[in-house]
Amino acid sequence: MFQYDVFLHSHDLFWFITLILFALVLVFLKSGLIKPAKVLQMILRFLYILVFGTGLVLIAMNLWWGSIVKGVLAFWLIYVMEMISTRMSKKELTPWTSFILWIQFFVSFVAVIYFGYFI
Ligand code: HEM
Repeated sequence: MFQYDVFLHSHDLFWFITLILFALVLVFLKSGLIKPAKVLQMILRFLYILVFGTGLVLIAMNLWWGSIVKGVLAFWLIYVMEMISTRMSKKELTPWTSFILWIQFFVSFVAVIYFGYFI
């Protein structure tokens, strides 16, 4: 379906940019570039909305359990990314919370890719 493809490709583009921005925010924070990191963080949050919005449209256009589970897992991934970046910027990331959050990041990321491409 043409319309579905438009949303799917936009969704792909948005989540890809989201991951790159997330990595950049962490690199900037680690390098002590706090101001640029804050600006990127704002753009990152805007991209969460775009990813989420296109994701909701895709669910609405193709309503079945697989797309709903995919959406819930992706919501978890976005939540974890937000927790990692905000806690890092507030210097609230202890080694233990960092470990727990990164485990969640990798588990939810693999699950999202699996549900996105293989289910
Ligand atoms: C950073 C977060 C996200 C990532 C990395 C991600 C990744 C993906 C990937 C890789 C696909 C498959 C694309 C393709 O077949 O070309 C996909 C499709 C999809 N995503 Fe996301 N996504 C994210 C967020 C979301 C959110 C928040 C929702 C729901 C609110 C959502 C709902 C969907 C749906 C419904 C599909 C279509 C699945 C299908 O065609 O069976 N995604 N996403």
